Amino acid sequence: MKITMIGTGYVGLVTGTCFAEFGHHVTCVDKIEDKISQLKAGKIPIYEPGLDLLVGKNVNEGRLQFTTSLDDAIPEAEAIFIAVGTPSSRRGDGYADLTYIYAAAKEIAHYLQGYTVIIDKSTVPVGTARQVARIIREENPTADFSVASNPEFLREGAAITDFMRPDRVVIGVESEKSERVLREVYKPLFLRDTPIVSTTIETAELTKYAANAFLAVKISFINEIASVCEAVGADVSDLAKGIGMDGRIGNKFLHPGPGYGGSCFPKDTLALMRIVQEYGESVRIVEAAVEVNAAQKARMVKKIRDMLGGSESGKTIAVLGLTFKPETDDMREAPATTILPALLEKGARIKAHDPKGMEEAKHYLPEGIEYMENSYEACEGADAVVLMTEWNQYRALDLDRLKVIMKEPVFIDLRNVYDPATMQEIGFRYMGIGRK
Ligand code: UGA
Repeated sequence: MKITMIGTGYVGLVTGTCFAEFGHHVTCVDKIEDKISQLKAGKIPIYEPGLDLLVGKNVNEGRLQFTTSLDDAIPEAEAIFIAVGTPSSRRGDGYADLTYIYAAAKEIAHYLQGYTVIIDKSTVPVGTARQVARIIREENPTADFSVASNPEFLREGAAITDFMRPDRVVIGVESEKSERVLREVYKPLFLRDTPIVSTTIETAELTKYAANAFLAVKISFINEIASVCEAVGADVSDLAKGIGMDGRIGNKFLHPGPGYGGSCFPKDTLALMRIVQEYGESVRIVEAAVEVNAAQKARMVKKIRDMLGGSESGKTIAVLGLTFKPETDDMREAPATTILPALLEKGARIKAHDPKGMEEAKHYLPEGIEYMENSYEACEGADAVVLMTEWNQYRALDLDRLKVIMKEPVFIDLRNVYDPATMQEIGFRYMGIGRK
């Protein structure tokens, strides 16, 4: 099948490449010439494990190509996926900015030939696919097309595995004809028994927001329970096991941390709140999760201050991990972007390290942060080390060495990577989240 992917961000590039790996012929289109020339030269503009190999393989085998021209890509395509960005609107009101989606729809309209299904892959408010249909119809009244919604549930850092082995695929369709096209697109997964949830367009659009909102609620819930654990002297890791083994609750997304970040949860929770407001409804649980998430970051600043004896002024803090989670270079809404400026403002000196995110971090963090070559350089002479993001290489630090090179053996573990008893035995003053 011939597929066109509009937008080569995380979602578009991973999805387009994986469709090619399925055996489809995929053309990825992006307006940014520099991005397309990089991709043509075999350079991947983002860090996503395994993506470079998969892109290379599919390009070599002639199933994946890149272009800036819709003219090349649209006329032959049976399915066109729109995977352009939907950032929070510049008005700062939480609404998703749909400018890029609608601009893509307008342009696509002129090149359509033969029956084509146009599918929203980006996370978009309820009603967007219908609006895309209206735009196309206005631009090209004779076009033969259907619109559909096919939300993605990929996690950055694990996107390829998530794509190849999804828990489910959700397709929102308006006709049997368009459903057949989408089932054909996902046939390789269908043959592997992946459940396909076929529903209305509106349900599919809302399913994506509901999934991300639920996960955000789950994280804020465990973060709040972690604080309760600290107050009563309980252990949140054991508690998470105790509740997570109940199949109705599930053991995933019950790891406390410095608050959720990334390009999705913060944006999508706010967008959902705005969407429901327009219908005169509210999602109070989601509102609470957003508030708890902001409070969690402030709590982390206080935790660090307390471990430094009540003031961060003049103290050197080593920070391990800056990205919003491991295996990505993405700094969007990373907890570090709130926590580090707060520490700097109070006069701390910050020496930071991240395996993949330091270049990106420079665009998101204020000046004054020192970026170090490795964890040990960051910890040299530090009054405390803060483990902010649980990259694998921070899981097996040489703790004896660390203790010797640090000015004070103070370890603040915002991801509960280390065992408190062991850390105390080695001689660290150790503080995790939600456990003594
Ligand atoms: C999230 C969803 O997990 C994907 O299903 C969805 O497709 C994607 O958003 C999207 O909408 O595009 P992602 O943002 O890549 O994926 O990352 P997650 O692994 O979900 O982590 C999000 C944040 O939650 C991170 O800051 C992470 O550290 C935090 N988190 C996650 C916790 O603090 N505790 C947990 O137990 C799990």
